[in-house]
Amino acid sequence: MDSSIIQCLSDRKFWILNTREAAYAFGLNEQKELEHAYWGERLPYESDYQFRDVERIGAPETRNDAVNNEYPAWGGPMFSEPCLKVCFADGVRDLSLEYAGYELLAPNKLMISLRDPHYNLVVRLHYVVHYDFDLIERYAEISNDGADTVRIDSAQSAVWSVPGDHQYRFTHLAGKWAGETQLRQSILDSGRKVIESRRGMTSLQANPWFALDRGLATEDEGKVWFGALAWSGNWKITAEVTPWNQVRITGGLNDFDFTFQLAAGNTFKVPSFTAGFTTHGFGGASRNMHRYQQAVILPKPHASSLRKVLYNSWYATHFDVNEEGQCRLAERAAALGVELFVMDDGWFGKRKDDRAGLGDWYPAPDKFPNGLNPLIERVKSTGMEFGIWVEPEMVNPDSDLYRAHPDWVLHFPNRSRSEMRSQLVLNLARSDVQEFIYSFMHKLLEEHRIDYIKWDMNRPFTEPGWPELPPFQQQEVWLRYVEGLYAILDRLRNAFPKVVFESCASGGGRVDNGILQRTDLAWASDNTNAVDRLAIQEGYSYAYTPGTMSCWVTDGWPDLLSLPYRFHISMMGVLGIGANLNEWNEEEMEVARQMIATYKDIRHIVQKGLQYRLNSPREGPLTAVQYVTEDKRESVVFFSVTHREHVSPWPNVYLRGLNPAAAYRVDGSKRVLSGQCLMSNGIQADLGRFYASKLVRLQAQAQ
Ligand code: GLA
Repeated sequence: MDSSIIQCLSDRKFWILNTREAAYAFGLNEQKELEHAYWGERLPYESDYQFRDVERIGAPETRNDAVNNEYPAWGGPMFSEPCLKVCFADGVRDLSLEYAGYELLAPNKLMISLRDPHYNLVVRLHYVVHYDFDLIERYAEISNDGADTVRIDSAQSAVWSVPGDHQYRFTHLAGKWAGETQLRQSILDSGRKVIESRRGMTSLQANPWFALDRGLATEDEGKVWFGALAWSGNWKITAEVTPWNQVRITGGLNDFDFTFQLAAGNTFKVPSFTAGFTTHGFGGASRNMHRYQQAVILPKPHASSLRKVLYNSWYATHFDVNEEGQCRLAERAAALGVELFVMDDGWFGKRKDDRAGLGDWYPAPDKFPNGLNPLIERVKSTGMEFGIWVEPEMVNPDSDLYRAHPDWVLHFPNRSRSEMRSQLVLNLARSDVQEFIYSFMHKLLEEHRIDYIKWDMNRPFTEPGWPELPPFQQQEVWLRYVEGLYAILDRLRNAFPKVVFESCASGGGRVDNGILQRTDLAWASDNTNAVDRLAIQEGYSYAYTPGTMSCWVTDGWPDLLSLPYRFHISMMGVLGIGANLNEWNEEEMEVARQMIATYKDIRHIVQKGLQYRLNSPREGPLTAVQYVTEDKRESVVFFSVTHREHVSPWPNVYLRGLNPAAAYRVDGSKRVLSGQCLMSNGIQADLGRFYASKLVRLQAQAQ
């Protein structure tokens, strides 16, 4: 059989997209529709890939329930979720997309063209095969080759059809402030289940990631179909079971309150939706996504380097920042081995609390009479890098910026401007607002030796008006805002390639494959309670690599949760410290010193290795998470007990991902055990008490 990544069977107008373990096939059926044929394990023969036999379908109105179109347009008898819905200039809202050709743009890149024969609307479906990660990235380009403007009412990136006539379980991430990325699972029944954001940002409440299985997949085994959208604004994922038991996941831009005017001659690109198939359960699905993010999504050049251990001053000082106070914390942090000091909110304008100053990006003269450079130089003299918090997309009404430009915020005339955290949202769709943000950020980075930006965004959109535009165009703000944000970040990264960016939005409100193309890591949650964190971090890891997951040790619950416990849980991602170091005694400082030194030894395994969720915090008192280097020579396992439940004897925990034949020295014991033994017989956690934790390291012995 042909070994190409993409097989183009020109005689049949049929395409087979092969990844290491999976195949995805579609083609033109007898009715000349672009029909999905198969997505699952690779099949031995080309002739194995066939369309379903839908001869029996009599009534035309049931056709779209039975035939899985690759990119269904809303037109004709069409009652399921469309990928594209438009209105032409003459009022016709019926779109017909006919096959117009294909092009193999690269060995792993295919483009299929579709065209409305009358109106010359052209849709180019792009497929990028990420062979090693068993993933396929899809996006669509919509070009108006006609003479008049076309209104787009819904533009989805792709629909993913899984083999029909099975019952599926839908897994997704839901949450709220301080409780992000909680795993939710439910059986899909007839009809549609929608997860989405209408908040202008990715959201704390839902995340654009999904997984489907047949209710049987475990962490290690079973078929899982999964995917994630690369978009940080309003998004929508619709899981649909048609009356003919076809199961589809459609995802892209949220069509709620959305229209887009596509002028003649223009092209509109719908963001990508990357999805995969694995037989290695939810763990296999996550690892494929993690490896893809590390190799493809995360920005160069930092993607290949390790994230530094940071200290952030927020919980220690809140808005009460000044040079002396920050320096005192910085000296304490440096003594622990911290590598990067980040000053959080409160350093600018008249920012004494969250009610004023946002938008006035000059150092507060009472706090920093000589500007920021004296502080930065003092921090640098300790050997640490310097980072700073900004929230560029927002403004307090009590600010010079707002007084000068009240029209720069999202608003409707004759309506109140709803405040949240006493702030309004700047309209980043406007080019003058983009220029303002870019130039103050440029100045900040040019005039100071800043190595790290924590880019925050602390409220969703309300009253999303853009009064300068004609009413029929204002709904483009949902899209153009995000494009504006991406453009600013892209320009800044280009101008300051050494600066590391962190994405924050009241915690994990903006984590997705779109922002992760522009930020090197993300703040997973404002909730830093170590026990709550386990579930948040677990959910995060379903969709995103722990190498992007910023986790701080703070002072929460010190009587119950020991400092090593809090460290161990934060060491499962990118370690940071957010505690008030002025209050730590020498003993605590020494524990922290040792923990940070240990983290530096193992962080390459955590940040770049393969993650195995051995025991889930959702399932019992003992959580265990393992990380293994790609070469399988090093591994680290974090154990933690969460419940006040008597566990005796300690259960065996079965490790994963090791080389069965290699001999591993297990930390804390003189024994050398084979990888096979560690995986088949396991190791006992043996933690001894409630809210205890342990880090176990494994090192393969030289053969
Ligand atoms: C948000 C962030 C916090 C902190 C504050 C500062 O809540 O999530 O980490 O930066 O803003 O105001």
